[in-house]
Amino acid sequence: DDVVEFTGRHQAGIVTPAQDRLHFVALDVTTDSREELVAMLQAWTAAARRMTAGQDAGPLGAVGGEQFAPPDDTGEALGLSASRLTLTVGFGPTLFTADGRDRFGLADRRPEPLAELPSFANETIDPAISGGDLCIQACADDPQVAVHAVRNLVRIGAGVVTVRWSQLGFGRTSSTTTAQATPRNLMGFKDGTDNLKAENAGALDRFVWVADGDSGSDWLAGGSYLVTRRIRMHIEVWDSSTLDEQEQTIGRTKGAGAPLGQREEFDPVGFTARVDGGFAIPETSHVFLAHPTNSGTAILRRGYSFVDGSDGLGRLDAGLFFIAFQRDPETGFVQIQRNLRLDTLNEYIRHTSSAVFACPPGVRDDADWWGRALF
Ligand code: HEM
Repeated sequence: DDVVEFTGRHQAGIVTPAQDRLHFVALDVTTDSREELVAMLQAWTAAARRMTAGQDAGPLGAVGGEQFAPPDDTGEALGLSASRLTLTVGFGPTLFTADGRDRFGLADRRPEPLAELPSFANETIDPAISGGDLCIQACADDPQVAVHAVRNLVRIGAGVVTVRWSQLGFGRTSSTTTAQATPRNLMGFKDGTDNLKAENAGALDRFVWVADGDSGSDWLAGGSYLVTRRIRMHIEVWDSSTLDEQEQTIGRTKGAGAPLGQREEFDPVGFTARVDGGFAIPETSHVFLAHPTNSGTAILRRGYSFVDGSDGLGRLDAGLFFIAFQRDPETGFVQIQRNLRLDTLNEYIRHTSSAVFACPPGVRDDADWWGRALF
């Protein structure tokens, strides 16, 4: 019961009810050989098919193979269940062309929306933890299962890819179905209340899935664009602000998560002006600016909290590893992020990494593999 189906029209790990843990990894391809890249994607698909079903990465397993050969599974997930593991892959803009080179004959296959994100206010992007030719998003309810899956895919990719950066996350910060209770992020607020939800197929088709006729749809239809942003929270500053400031900043109450001026979490955000011309919810609050009424668009958020120790200056290195899926980055994340320029939440956060990937559609059957239609 804790197995998430690997095959389907869309990749798992997008509208799948958000699991508790994340291991995200971005990789660079180190070979110039298209054949080696294709062989690795086929091997990855086979291993992912097995691991998401709760099996070892290879058919011999951690202890069933030759005594004097490295095992085809690393073993740390022996005895653990599938834990709703999903593995989702994406292709970065640099896979198609980098430094004017077309290593894999893919340059004319790059969909127009798959381009480096523009720069924004309130960011200090570190290139060492940004970008990447490929990515794997591993989500599971058990952190060891997610880490095991990434470790084995990286092992299988030896000689073809190297890890560029990775991020562990805990405590999903979004709900992606109406059946899940809304979790809280590290600021203590419910996060994911007004997210796009799996049950809303019409909105997913409009805002999340690449459709026939979209740029690159010959191989990407049924897929989605993934944007990641590592967002550091100035936790200590936040913690010394008043409850009222915190609620005015988000635009919702901290307890129930209700829009300011309303009572319950799922009450509508109050965009009706009061007689004095103002709104119940501040016009510079996060929810006011991010809401579709104002931003004109919607995204599927699927982020995780992180605490990566402390920064040596007595501050927690903590925040939100923001993950969003959308049909087009320009009319999704970019449009909302631009609209958040005057967001009072910006006083408490700083974006430190950025990446964008095109996630191909789902693996259809036993013969199919990640990215087949692209190659
Ligand atoms: C809503 C927190 C960054 C887009 C919310 C809510 C919270 C929150 C508490 C209200 C509950 C909900 O509807 O989910 C945060 C924190 C962030 C952050 C702590 C940074 C550390 C971002 C970014 C974007 C974004 C970078 C996109 C560019 C949205 C959207 C909503 C939302 C679209 C729903 C608004 C609505 O329809 O009412 N966020 N957020 N958030 N956030 Fe964020």
